[in-house]
Amino acid sequence: MNSNQIPIHTNPAGRPIKRHHTARYYVHRVHESLSTRLSKLVCSIFLTLLLIMGIITFILWLSLRPHRPRIHLREFSIPALAQQNGFENAQLIFNVTARNANQNIGIYYDAMQITVYYEDRSIGSTSLLHPFFQEPKNTTVLFGTLSGATLTVTSERWSALLADRSRGTVIFRLEVTASIRFKVSTWSSKHHKLHAKCPVGVGPDGLILASYKDKRCPVYFT
Ligand SMILES: *[C@@H]1O[C@H](CO)[C@@H](O)[C@H](O)[C@H]1NC(C)=O
Ligand SMILES: *[C@@H]1O[C@H](CO)[C@@H](O)[C@H](O)[C@H]1NC(C)=O
Repeated sequence: MNSNQIPIHTNPAGRPIKRHHTARYYVHRVHESLSTRLSKLVCSIFLTLLLIMGIITFILWLSLRPHRPRIHLREFSIPALAQQNGFENAQLIFNVTARNANQNIGIYYDAMQITVYYEDRSIGSTSLLHPFFQEPKNTTVLFGTLSGATLTVTSERWSALLADRSRGTVIFRLEVTASIRFKVSTWSSKHHKLHAKCPVGVGPDGLILASYKDKRCPVYFT
């Protein structure tokens, strides 16, 4: 019910009659209805502003929401595995791609390391490239070779590798760790530590098995 209604009572004959009130009563009623209207107005302006701000925040969040980098394992091989003999001159070749799928966010890769594990123990590691900046919608190829000082296979591990090989498959895990920052316009985020884990199977010829090639590696942050 509207608060500025003046009550009109109907008598049994159907004729409206006004109830008599003092002037002070009406002044009070007018005053009351003005302040009610004002507070309703302020309330609705406030709610409208809140709604608009909410919509703007939602749109910003939708357009800026960072996608994590997409890491794929493209190539992986240990040709020496095919020859069965020494590991001294063995080489491990890898090719990994990192894609920035974001529309408006660039990514700084300030440090990056690739480590290869066999049975949960590192058999080699290398730091890659110089720090670089990745534009939105851009893909960076990370490839390299582990050998000599960066490939740390002991003779026992090599024997275990050869034993796995004779069973048809040697399973490794390639891990990418990187320290990255997101860049939006002129603002850049703090550092985030990225981890990508790529399981990889290699056949007796030392080459990556088809079922592991071009697989997307799970990525998480710590
Ligand atoms: C690495 O893989 C990508 C994607 O398959 C390919 O375009 C690129 O030529 C490869 N680079 C090397 C050095 O193998
Ligand atoms: C990726 O970035 C490089 C260097 O900024 C640029 O030359 C190249 O055109 C970019 N590629 C794509 C697909 O935007």
